Amino acid sequence: MERWFLVAAIAILTLLGTPPGIWAQDIVKVGLVHSMTGGLAPVGKQVLAGVRLYMQQHGDVVAGKKIEIILKDDTTVADMGKRLAQELIVNEKVHILGVGITPSAMAIAPLATEAKIPEVVMVSGTSAVTKLSPYIVRTSFTLGQQSAVIAEWAAKNGSKKTVIVQSDWAPGAEATAVFTETYKRAGGEILDTIKVPLANPDFAPFLQRAKDANPDTLFVFFPSGQAGTFAKQFVERGMDKSGIRLIGPGDVTDDNDLPGMSDAMIGVVTAGLYSASHNSPMNKVYVEAIKKANNGLRANFISVGGYDGMHLIYEALKKTGGRTDGDGLIAAMKGMAWESPRGPISIDPETREIIQNIYIRKVEKIGGELYNTEIATVEAVKDPTKAAKK
Ligand code: PHB
Repeated sequence: MERWFLVAAIAILTLLGTPPGIWAQDIVKVGLVHSMTGGLAPVGKQVLAGVRLYMQQHGDVVAGKKIEIILKDDTTVADMGKRLAQELIVNEKVHILGVGITPSAMAIAPLATEAKIPEVVMVSGTSAVTKLSPYIVRTSFTLGQQSAVIAEWAAKNGSKKTVIVQSDWAPGAEATAVFTETYKRAGGEILDTIKVPLANPDFAPFLQRAKDANPDTLFVFFPSGQAGTFAKQFVERGMDKSGIRLIGPGDVTDDNDLPGMSDAMIGVVTAGLYSASHNSPMNKVYVEAIKKANNGLRANFISVGGYDGMHLIYEALKKTGGRTDGDGLIAAMKGMAWESPRGPISIDPETREIIQNIYIRKVEKIGGELYNTEIATVEAVKDPTKAAKK
């Protein structure tokens, strides 16, 4: 080849942002749509911490292909998420999407179907999401998985009358529905279901209403990032001294916020998929690395959805030998099983839904810091809303 041609080719590729020696067909573009600003910004921060750590540990070349991440901020708004995903598909020609919160994941589903590209759901906890496209695979969790487990635990441990306080959007509705059904079947009674706005919640008036109903148990769901505000208002209302037992899915004692909570939270029992104190060599490395790379951030249950989402993408590419057609990648993802910092997980080959351990955890003070100590494990939990229909 003429020397001038090579020089010109390298110059053009460099201008296009592609390193010399790597051709377009050697690149796998992964478009990420997450909430980096807006009400759920703490969620975006955690999921990206997980994505970045996975790539730092495993490099950016898989099956001979370079992984290129293109990150877009949906600003916690579903319409924005949909528009950005459309741009990623049409303009950037991404091969795979990695998406976040429920409203965006839902809005993007028809685009993934039309483009026939995988939509890896790294955050959303709403069961219905995986039914919206055959190209959706989830590495996060469902609220149903956790709410069924805590309902059974509560009923077995003397809880009889519960008030539900629920953040008013899709995952909250699911937490309430699954908790209510399981708890009632176990003999419990729901005294009231109180809905709190998702954005900038002020829990105080709702907590007063809950207290006035005189329950023995308070089941609470709100998304990651709101636990600090909730805990403060819970204590200010004197709820910690009321004798009412606080329970919920893991969001309630989110590792993201737990270090800043008061000792009043000690003893709170939740059912969650991940604890920063999960006792495994892999998780010890994980927690330390997330902390180091993110200014002391404590890894939480959202971060592992990003970390495992990248694992799923990397391993699927290895299985297809670097081929990026959506059907081939989805086939490779179905049934995949691996060890996560949270414990063993797998992808249900029939529903493309995550199967994972749900842990009963109790808040304890260890070395001067609050942690969710895992005290019991329910193994390989499927999403109950799908399991029931089979
Ligand atoms: C969701 O988008 O479904 C979601 C986000 C954060 C949570 C729980 C659910 O903590």
